[in-house]
Amino acid sequence: MAAFLDQIEPVKQAALRDLTAATDLQALEQARVAYLGSNGRFSALMKLLGSIPKEEKPAAGKAVNTAKAELEQALANRRAQLELKAALPSVQTDFTLPGRRRALGKLHPLTQVTEDIVRSFRKIGFVVADGPEVEDEYHCFDALNTPADHPARDSQDTFYIAGEQGSQPLLLRTHTSSVQIRVMKSQKPPVRIIVPGRVYRRDNADATHNPTFHQVEGLYVDRKVTVGDLKGTVEFVFRELMGPETKIRFRPHYFSYTEPSFEIDFSSALTKKMGKDWLEIAGCGMVHPQVFENVGYDPEEWTGWAFGFGIERIAMIRYGINDIRLFYENDGRFLKQF
Ligand code: DAH
Repeated sequence: MAAFLDQIEPVKQAALRDLTAATDLQALEQARVAYLGSNGRFSALMKLLGSIPKEEKPAAGKAVNTAKAELEQALANRRAQLELKAALPSVQTDFTLPGRRRALGKLHPLTQVTEDIVRSFRKIGFVVADGPEVEDEYHCFDALNTPADHPARDSQDTFYIAGEQGSQPLLLRTHTSSVQIRVMKSQKPPVRIIVPGRVYRRDNADATHNPTFHQVEGLYVDRKVTVGDLKGTVEFVFRELMGPETKIRFRPHYFSYTEPSFEIDFSSALTKKMGKDWLEIAGCGMVHPQVFENVGYDPEEWTGWAFGFGIERIAMIRYGINDIRLFYENDGRFLKQF
C-alpha cells in the first residue's frame, strides 16, 4: 500500500511539470496523452488500483482521484492560457505607430466654383433659387420673348419629351433663364436671386462643348434699376472670382429677353496667361418690358437686369483646364488636383 501511494506523487509532479512546460496546444496535447491517455503513466497507476488489497482501496482510490482532479485542473488552466496565446496576433501591436488614414474626399471643381459664386452673391444680398431641369416651352422660351419661329431657338435646340396628352411638350432646359419666369410668377418684386443649375443642349461633345453643362443665372428687379447697377454687380463678382485686378467690359449684343443686351468680356492675369486681352464670359441686359408683362409685373413701375454665364467656362479659365469633358469623367487623378 505504502508503495502504491508513494508512486502517485512523483508521477503527478512529472505530469504537472510537463503540462506547464508545454508552449503550444500541440505540446500540451502530447503531455496529456503521455500521462492521462489510455496508455499514459498516470492512467497506468489507476489500472494498478484494481490489484491492491480490498481494505486499502478506499484510501488509495481517494489519493489517486485527488491527484487526477489536480492534473485535470492544471490541464484546463494551461489549455486556457495557450488558447488565448494562439488567438493573439503573433506580432505585438505597436500603439505608438501613426494610424492609417482614410483619404479625405473633395468637392468637385464645378461644385467649388459654384459655391464661390454663390458666396460672392450672398455678400450683396442675393438668394439661391431653383427650378426644374425638365421644363416646358413656355418657361424656357415663350415667356422669355422667344416665340417658336425665333432664330434664337436654333442655337438652343434641345431634347424634347412628350408631355401628357393635350399639354405642351416638355424639354430639357437649355438655360437657367427659365427660372427667372418661375420666380417672378411666384413672388412680387423686388427680386434678387441667383440660380445655379444644370442645362442641356443638342451639342456634340468636344473640348469646349458638352450636351450637359452648368450655368448661373442672376435676376435683379426693383424700382429705378440701371445698367450701372448691372455693371457694378458683375464687376464685384468677377473680381471676387478672378482676382482684384479683373476688368470687365460690355459689348452690345442681342437677347430676346433683355433690352438693351450685352456680352460681358473680362480681362485679368488669367486671360493674359491664355494669350488674350479679353475673353467673352457672360450675357446680360436690362429685363425686357415684354417679359415683365408676361409675368404680371408692371413695366412702368419695375425695372431690372439679368445675366447668365457658364460655370464650366469659369472653372476652365480659373484652373487652366483645356477640355470640358474632363469634368464629367470622374477620373480621380484629375479631380484630386483641385
Ligand atoms: N440664357 C443665355 C444663354 O444661355 C445667357 C443669358 C444672357 C442670360 C442674357 C440672361 C441674359 O439672363 O440677360 O446663353
